[in-house]
Amino acid sequence: MATAAKILILNGPNLNMLGMRQPEIYGAATLADIEAACESRATDLGLAVECRQSNSEGELVGWIQAARGRMQGIIINPGAYSHTSVAILDALLIAELPIVEVHLSNIHQREEFRHHSYISKAAQGVICGFGARGYIMALEALASQLAESQDA
Ligand code: DQA
Repeated sequence: MATAAKILILNGPNLNMLGMRQPEIYGAATLADIEAACESRATDLGLAVECRQSNSEGELVGWIQAARGRMQGIIINPGAYSHTSVAILDALLIAELPIVEVHLSNIHQREEFRHHSYISKAAQGVICGFGARGYIMALEALASQLAESQDA
């Protein structure tokens, strides 16, 4: 049996506070709930996931650099760094991997400063506004795309 494709799931600052952080915007699920749901769905899809969260921009950059050549895709919710970080954008561009950007909330419905994401330039696609389900949608998108590229 072929080894499962590996997907890195990255969450940025303050996402470790999910569950207690503005649940009316971000929902009731904790990051541990989301990661457990991703692991379970990934297993169904024949993927392996590695889940990491950091409040530090440099740590996120380091993990993205380490994914190059070792992972087959990245799902990232960069949190507030979406709106500020050229460093994370550059790291994602170097990774040369399919990247899905996820936001729990619909950033376009919110404050003006959340409407622009530097990260979207490196992302193949963006999923926002579906809450925790967005991570599962991202996994499903990557799984079907990886399956198609293996068939080609
Ligand atoms: C977020 C949206 C960002 O604007 C915010 O800073 C976050 C979470 C989301 O998942 O909706 O931390 O990325």
